[in-house]
Amino acid sequence: MQSRDWELFNGEGNAKMIIRELERREIEHVWKIDRSEVIDRVYCLRDGKLVLQPEHYDMKGWPPGEPEHYTPILCNCFDRGGTFWGAFEGAEMIGVAVLESQLIGKDKNQLQLKFLHVSRSYRKQGLGKALFETSVKKAGEQGAKKLYISATPSQNTVDFYLSLGCVLAQELDPELFELEPEDIHLEYSIPLHVER
Ligand SMILES: CC(C)(COP(=O)(O)OP(=O)(O)OC[C@H]1O[C@@H](n2cnc3c(N)ncnc32)[C@H](O)[C@@H]1OP(=O)(O)O)[C@@H](O)C(=O)NCCC(=O)NCCS
Repeated sequence: MQSRDWELFNGEGNAKMIIRELERREIEHVWKIDRSEVIDRVYCLRDGKLVLQPEHYDMKGWPPGEPEHYTPILCNCFDRGGTFWGAFEGAEMIGVAVLESQLIGKDKNQLQLKFLHVSRSYRKQGLGKALFETSVKKAGEQGAKKLYISATPSQNTVDFYLSLGCVLAQELDPELFELEPEDIHLEYSIPLHVER
């Protein structure tokens, strides 16, 4: 296991935040990430185009029941070879990314970025991008040409992915679409220079 994939240094040259792979026993800690967010606008798809519409949610944290429902799903993902990264400030987990291991799509050349979250007070500092890029590199090493993302439709989330170069998925994954039809399904083409 690589202990440090990414480090953000403070002024004295000491690591302030690190990203490292997680062990299975650490999965339960992802729920300590502060998921709170105020959402004012969400995207929907109309005639194949992204359209913003006002919708207000004041998320105080993870939706009720999410940890109980989703922890076994994450553990199964880990057990079939999924890769988990945590971002840490000291001992505190402040971000997480999960890359599935099973290639999907008609050409079996896409990997799903299954989970990506950054604690509220650490957003907009480059951590989401660092977790995304770490996932892109690993996906390239695993032979994928694209990342597949079923994104929460909130404006912040979708604008984040669009700013990184994601576009609407050309090929909807039927299973993932059935699970989350309100999500915005996106893909990211892994640059050729990323190791395959
Ligand atoms: C979406 C999320 C992971 C982004 O993480 P983050 O650490 O705040 O994002 P970063 O600071 O790394 O931003 C990376 C790039 O996206 C852009 N970006 C981030 N948020 C943005 C927004 N709301 N609108 C437009 N661009 C945005 C940044 O400008 C940055 O671009 P730059 O490198 O050119 O400056 C984080 O906001 C989050 O956890 N949100 C709640 C949970 C969630 O929606 N998870 C995704 C589920 S699919």
